Amino acid sequence: MAIKQGVNGEWQHHWTFILAAAGSAVGLGNIWKFPYIAGENGGGAFVLVYLVCIALIGVPIMIAEVMLGRRGRMSPINAMLRHSRESNVSSWWVGVGWSGVLVGVLILSFYSVVAGWAFHYFMLSASGTFQGIDPSTSGMLFEDLLTNVGAMVGWHSLFLVLTLVVVSAGVIRGLGLTVRYLMPLLFILLFGLLIYSAFVGDFAAASAFMFDANTEALTWKSILIALGHAFFTLSLGMGAIMAYGAYMPETTQSTVRDDTGNPITVTRKVSIGRTVLLIALIDTLVALVAGLVIFPIVFASSAIEPSEGPGLLFISLPVAFGGMPAGSVFGSVFFFLVVIAALSSAISLIEPTVAWLVETKNMSRVLITAVLGFFIWVLGLGSVFSFNIWSEMKIFGKTFFDNLDFLTANIMMPLGGLLIAIFVGWFMDKSAVTEEVGDITYGAYHWWYVVLKFLSPPLLIVVFVTALIEKF
Ligand code: TRP
Repeated sequence: MAIKQGVNGEWQHHWTFILAAAGSAVGLGNIWKFPYIAGENGGGAFVLVYLVCIALIGVPIMIAEVMLGRRGRMSPINAMLRHSRESNVSSWWVGVGWSGVLVGVLILSFYSVVAGWAFHYFMLSASGTFQGIDPSTSGMLFEDLLTNVGAMVGWHSLFLVLTLVVVSAGVIRGLGLTVRYLMPLLFILLFGLLIYSAFVGDFAAASAFMFDANTEALTWKSILIALGHAFFTLSLGMGAIMAYGAYMPETTQSTVRDDTGNPITVTRKVSIGRTVLLIALIDTLVALVAGLVIFPIVFASSAIEPSEGPGLLFISLPVAFGGMPAGSVFGSVFFFLVVIAALSSAISLIEPTVAWLVETKNMSRVLITAVLGFFIWVLGLGSVFSFNIWSEMKIFGKTFFDNLDFLTANIMMPLGGLLIAIFVGWFMDKSAVTEEVGDITYGAYHWWYVVLKFLSPPLLIVVFVTALIEKF
């Protein structure tokens, strides 16, 4: 079967790519995970390390990934095949694409379950359930959800179907259109919540907590957590950003005025470096603002601590909202925001696989999405059962859900990123690399290349090995 190039289409505008990539990056990682790991690791100093990690390892690898996609112009598997030929290296490098396809499917199966919780919490908040509740009642509410198989399967199904509907509609009418509406909505809601939080919460305490860098709280372990998270939050190492890069228009047109004031259209090649910086900036800002939404109301409520861990979002936050004026309304807005953020990430988890099947099989996108979606839905049941009927069934001391999370976030994604850095830094034809990324200043380009070659690989190996050691 011949590989069909270009069948998946192209973003209609350069901005659509930026919104789609930012949509992929901004997700549960920013709103649920970042605030709680920042809380657990002492706040300010951790935030600082995290910012350094984004700049030092996140941005360089993201540039590499977007570049592989844009030059490859196909799904990660086929793009890597093309790159290995162009650079005359082993076709084993296609494994990078394969691992991406696999990781995306695995992550989506449990991402959808957690996103389903946010749906449920949206409903709970909207119905006023959180008004005046205490921490133990809130804990019980969460427990009730986790043991209710029917509800969890229902919400998981609903979220997955939404994701599949968007993806089946294609790059232009599905993904592109969706992010063009959802992302601005997400920014507006987040901004609204920030203002609310600043008014009703303890903003001063929260910003001191997040931005006063007391380096004593910092441990070696928290540095590794920051590094791993920088990676996770930018959706790196699994081909999602590569797949999106393949739909990037090669050039962008803008209108300027000449000396006499007449409009002229200029066509420029899109700068990957600048684009990636913008995406990383958006992702980082959303994580910081999410912290500034959550912590002020947490600090204002005396019954809870900032270092509550994973339960921060689903146990502590309802208590905090429940004690605030108009808490039901703003609580609902908050959980709705979580659903939007998760949806715009979920679509990018499945796109690499769908794109590859569209390119290689003689089947329609709709059928492909449906079949793949069914498979992911079944896999997701394993995660649903991990919290109830299978909660005692443990492999390596962890439930099915925890194993999937660990395998993907701590092993497969860093490994994927490592291979990408090594491929671009050491194996890819240097002139091809320069052609794609060399538009930035020589200093910046040189810095990027050196980081990718010498700094990213050892750092990723450390993250990866530490994760393994901790596990066994
Ligand atoms: N970046 C997403 C978040 O912060 C999570 C994520 C990791 C992801 N890898 C991904 C999303 C790949 C889409 C594709 O929640």
